[in-house]
Amino acid sequence: MSKAVKKNNTVKLDFNIEYAPAPESKASAKIQPSYDLFINGKFEKPASKKYFDTINPATEEKLSSIAEANATDVNKAVKAARNAYDNTWSKMPAKERAKYIYRIARMIQERAREFAVIETLDGGKPIRESRDIDIPLVANHFFYYAGWTDKLAYAFPNKKIQSLGVAGQIIPWNFPLLMAAWKIAPALATGNTVVLKPAETTSLTALKLAEIIQESDLPPGVVNIITGAGATGAAIVNHPDINKIAFTGSTDVGKIIQRAVAGTNKKVTLELGGKAANIIFDDAPIDQAVEGVINGIFFNQGHVCCAGSRLFVQESVYDIILKKLKDRLSTLIVGNPMDKNTDIGAINSKQQMDNIHKYLRIGEKEGLEMYQNNCVLPKKGFFIRPTLFTNVAQSSRLAQEEIFGPVLTIQTFRTDDEVIEKANNTPFGLSAGVWTDKGSKIFNLTTKLRAGVIWANTYNKFDPTSPFGGYKESGYGREGGLHGLGAYLK
Ligand code: NAI
Ligand code: MG
Repeated sequence: MSKAVKKNNTVKLDFNIEYAPAPESKASAKIQPSYDLFINGKFEKPASKKYFDTINPATEEKLSSIAEANATDVNKAVKAARNAYDNTWSKMPAKERAKYIYRIARMIQERAREFAVIETLDGGKPIRESRDIDIPLVANHFFYYAGWTDKLAYAFPNKKIQSLGVAGQIIPWNFPLLMAAWKIAPALATGNTVVLKPAETTSLTALKLAEIIQESDLPPGVVNIITGAGATGAAIVNHPDINKIAFTGSTDVGKIIQRAVAGTNKKVTLELGGKAANIIFDDAPIDQAVEGVINGIFFNQGHVCCAGSRLFVQESVYDIILKKLKDRLSTLIVGNPMDKNTDIGAINSKQQMDNIHKYLRIGEKEGLEMYQNNCVLPKKGFFIRPTLFTNVAQSSRLAQEEIFGPVLTIQTFRTDDEVIEKANNTPFGLSAGVWTDKGSKIFNLTTKLRAGVIWANTYNKFDPTSPFGGYKESGYGREGGLHGLGAYLK
C-alpha cells in the first residue's frame, strides 16, 4: 500500500516525489476588519447593530466581522431594489444594461487573483480551484449573460419579454462567488433587481463583489447584498414585495422555502442536494475514468451538490478499478488550501466536518469496508481524509443520503438495466456520470437516468452556456444557458 507522509513541511509520497510548499501570497487580499450591508449602493450599518465572525476554516483564525441583517434591514434592501426596478433598471434600454454587466465582468477579471485568494481564505477550497475554476467561471457568467441582455428577443422569439421585478437570492457556501454570479447575472440581464444573501461562513467575496458593483456605477439599489444566517434568509423569503426566490442549498431549507411561498405569486427556483452516480463500464478508458471519479468526488472537498458520490463499477473491472482508485487516493495532498500543491483543502465549517464524521461512523457501524488516505492532517482547522467505502448495500445510509464531503461509496453491477435501476434509486436527481467507449450505451443511459446533468467520459465540467438543475428532491428550475434567462422572465 502506498503512503503519503508529511515530514518537515514537505509532502513525501512513496514513489519519491517531494513537493516543497508553494503557498500563494495573501498580499492581494484586502480584507477589512468589518463589513456592513450593501444597500442602495452604499455600505450601511445593520439596524440589528449585530455582527458575527467569519473565520478561515483551515486555521480557525478570524478574518472579519460581518453585519447581521434583521427584518428591518431586509425591508430596506427590498425597498431599494423595488425603487431601482420601478424608476431606473426596468426603464433602461437593454443595450445600456448590458454595458454595466460587461463592466462588472471585466472588473472581476482584473481583480481575479484577489477574489481567488479571499475565496480560499474564507471558504477553505484549494487555491488552484478558486483561481482556475471558480473565479474564471464567475467572470464568464457575467460576460455570457451580458451578451444576451440586448438579444432577449432572439432568445425567446415571438414572446413578449417581461422581467419579474425584485429577486431574492439565497446562496450556499460551497461556491460562494460562483453562486452569486449564477444568480445575479441572469437577473440583471433580464431587467430584474436583486437582494442577495451569501452563506454566513462565506460572505467575503460577495461583499467584495459589492465593492466592484459600487465602483461600476451600477444604479443604486439594482443589486443589494445583505449578510446574515438562516433568519435573514427567511426574512427575504417571506417579504411580500419580492417577486422571485432563487435558492441553492440544503433540501431541508428548500422544503421550508417551498412551503413559505406556496399560495403567493412568487416564482421559485430551487437547486438542492444530490447523490450522483458515476458509472464505469468495462469498456471505459480505465485511467481516465479513475481520474474522473477522483475529481468527481474529491473536488472542493466533496462540497458539491453534483459530486459523484456513488461509484458503480461493472464487476469484470472492479478489482483493477479499486486498486487504481486506492493508489490515486493515497497520493492526494490534503492540507493548506493556500498551497498550490493541495488537492483537498479544508472542510467549510466545524458543523459540516462533524456531519461528515457522523457518516464515517455510520459507515463503520453498518460494517462497510473503509479505506482512507493516511496523510497527517494539520493540527488546526477542519480537515477530513479522503475516504472510500466498499461492500456497500443499496440500502446503506451512505449510499442514500447526501454527505457533502470527500466520501465515496463503491458498488458493482453486471448489466445496464441493473445499474440504471440502482443509480435512480435515490430521492435525488441532480447529476450523473457515464464512462464507456460506446456511444449507444451513453445514449441509453442518458435517456433513462433521472438526472438533470449527465456527463459522459468526463465529470464536473461547467460552462455558462449549459443549463444546470435537477429532478425530484434535487429541486426544480434551471440555471445557466438560455434556460437560466427564462427563470427570470414572466
Ligand atoms: P443551508 O441550506 O442551511 O444553507 C444555504 C443557505 O440558506 C445559506 O445562505 C443559509 O443562511 C440559508 N438559510 C438557512 N436557513 C434558511 C431559511 N430557513 N430560510 C432561508 N434561507 C435559509 O445549508 P447548510 O446547513 O449550510 O448545509 C447543510 C447541508 O445542505 C449540507 O451538508 C449539504 O448536504 C447541503 N447543501 C447543499 C448545497 C447545494 O449546493 N445544493 C449547498 C450547501 C449545503
Ligand atoms: Mg469563513
